[in-house]
Amino acid sequence: MVGEFARQAETFAASAVAHSPRALNELMRLAVPRGDQRWLEAACGPGIVSRRLASEVASVHGVDLTPAMIEVARREGQAAGADNVTFEVGDVTALELPDASFDGVITRFSLHHIPAPVRVIEELARIVRSGGSVVVADHLADADGEAAAWSQEIERLRDPTHWACLSDSRMRRLGEGAHLTLEDEGLVGLELDLEDWLDRGSGGAGARAVIERLLADPPASAQCFGVRESDGRRILSLRMWAGRWVR
Ligand SMILES: C[S@@+](CC[C@H](N)C(=O)[O-])C[C@H]1O[C@@H](n2cnc3c(N)ncnc32)[C@H](O)[C@@H]1O
Repeated sequence: MVGEFARQAETFAASAVAHSPRALNELMRLAVPRGDQRWLEAACGPGIVSRRLASEVASVHGVDLTPAMIEVARREGQAAGADNVTFEVGDVTALELPDASFDGVITRFSLHHIPAPVRVIEELARIVRSGGSVVVADHLADADGEAAAWSQEIERLRDPTHWACLSDSRMRRLGEGAHLTLEDEGLVGLELDLEDWLDRGSGGAGARAVIERLLADPPASAQCFGVRESDGRRILSLRMWAGRWVR
């Protein structure tokens, strides 16, 4: 798993979706960052969210399982002159960080890689102070079982690190289960170039052929994952849910 994430470190860092202004703006709107705050980014990858947040808060610490991602995050942080961001390798399902040690914690595009998202939210709730914010964003699966099974099979064929996207109602319940109060939420449509998205995956030619067959036969109920043509290109549309809970 870590090897596959290492392979993706540079390509994810350079991808358009990772820098989507709409997604980053929605995260900042929900985070309501203040200049005196200390934040953690969980599963920070190449540190894109950390760097954006760092311009508005006192400090950001990023944790990620993949050493190659942390290397990119440190390199890009230095290149950007962000001297209030630090990064370390760690597992967000079992963080070696003290209770109530951050004003806010944030994680984006991570839960769908992790078989136990409940553990992630519990850990984020543990390390944020009382009254602090937990901001989570990820792209969604449909609540309808057939549509979800269809899209998640495509996702896993393309990228073996993909575990499962959640529905928006499951996202809300994760926070409730960790005794957090949902204060705000939003949906952002993400549009990706389908060929670029497929090329960044590692399923190989066999998987690609199956993906094409699945794409040609979408369930009528699919809303969170869809492909359309525009100017001779295929565009993949995803929905990102983002929410802010307060502890
Ligand atoms: C698609 S990347 C997203 C990176 C970043 N959150 C962003 O949105 O720019 C997913 C990241 O989750 C990390 N990851 C997966 N499982 C993890 C775990 N248990 N603990 C920490 N990081 C994890 C991977 O190493 C990878 O960097």
